[in-house]
Amino acid sequence: MDPVYVKNLTKIYGDTAALKGISFNVNRGEIYCLVGPNGAGKTTTFRILSTLILPTSGEAYIEGYSVVDEPEKVREVISYLPEDVGTYKNLTGYEYLKFVASVYFRDHRSILDAIKRGIEISDLTDEELNRPMKTYSKGMKRRIQIARALMVEPRIAILDEPGSGLDPVQKHYIRKIIKLYAKREGTTVLMSTHEMAEAEEICDRVAILYSGEIVARGTPKEIIDRLGESSLEKAFIKIVSSSGDGI
Ligand SMILES: Nc1ncnc2c1ncn2[C@@H]1O[C@H](COP(=O)(O)OP(=O)(O)OP(=O)(O)O)[C@@H](O)[C@H]1O
Ligand SMILES: [Mg+2]
Repeated sequence: MDPVYVKNLTKIYGDTAALKGISFNVNRGEIYCLVGPNGAGKTTTFRILSTLILPTSGEAYIEGYSVVDEPEKVREVISYLPEDVGTYKNLTGYEYLKFVASVYFRDHRSILDAIKRGIEISDLTDEELNRPMKTYSKGMKRRIQIARALMVEPRIAILDEPGSGLDPVQKHYIRKIIKLYAKREGTTVLMSTHEMAEAEEICDRVAILYSGEIVARGTPKEIIDRLGESSLEKAFIKIVSSSGDGI
C-alpha cells in the first residue's frame, strides 16, 4: 500500500461538511501537496491523518495502518507540523531540539545525530540557539518547528502550511529544506498551502481542494496544461469559476 492512502474521507462538524468524500494517495519519497483556499479542508484532512480527530466516514491509511483503528502505529511513523504551533517559551532552541530528540531516540548517538540535523535545518546561529524561544521572531519559531518535524527522519512528514507567516526569503529557505530532506532522507512529505505558486514550485503532485472536495489533481504541469493556463493559480481560478464540477 502507498505510504498515504485516503478513500472517500468525510468530516462533518455540526452542520458544516468540511470534507465531502476525498480520495488521494501519496507515493513513497514524493512531496504531495493539498492546495486550496482558507476553509477548504486542508487542516481537517491533516488532523485526521495525524490521528487527532476521527473522520465521519471513509478510510485513511498511513504506511498501511488505519488512522482509526491503529492510531498508535500511525503516530510512530509520522511527524506532524500543525499550522500554528506554540513554542516552549523558556526553553532555548537548543534545549528544545535536545528534548525532542531524546523523546524520539534512545541511544546517545542517534540523539546527537538528530540534534545535529535539527540545528542544520533550523539554520539558526549558535547565539540564537542558546536564547529562550520567547525571543524568537515568527520566522525563527517556524524554522525550529520545521527542524523539529524533519530532524527525526520520519517516514512521513505531514506539514500544515510550513511557510505560513514567513517573508519571501524565509519561505524560499523552508521550501529548499523540505525538498532537500524529502530527497536526501527519503521522507515522504504531505504538505498544505493556500499559495498556488508554492505548490507549483515545490510539489511533485498536488490535489486542489476546494470546499471539501478535490477539484483537480496531478502534477502542477498536468493541471496547468489541461486547463490551458500559464500557472496553477490561473488554472485554479478557471476551475472554481466554471461549473464547479471540477475536472
Ligand atoms: N472544530 C471545528 N468545528 C467546526 N467547524 C470546523 C472546525 N474545524 C474546521 N471547521 C470548518 O471546516 C472547514 C474546513 O476547515 P479547515 O481548517 O480544515 O480548512 P483549511 O483548508 O485548513 O483552511 P485554512 O487555509 O484557513 O487553514 C471550514 O469551514 C471550517 O470552518
Ligand atoms: Mg488550515
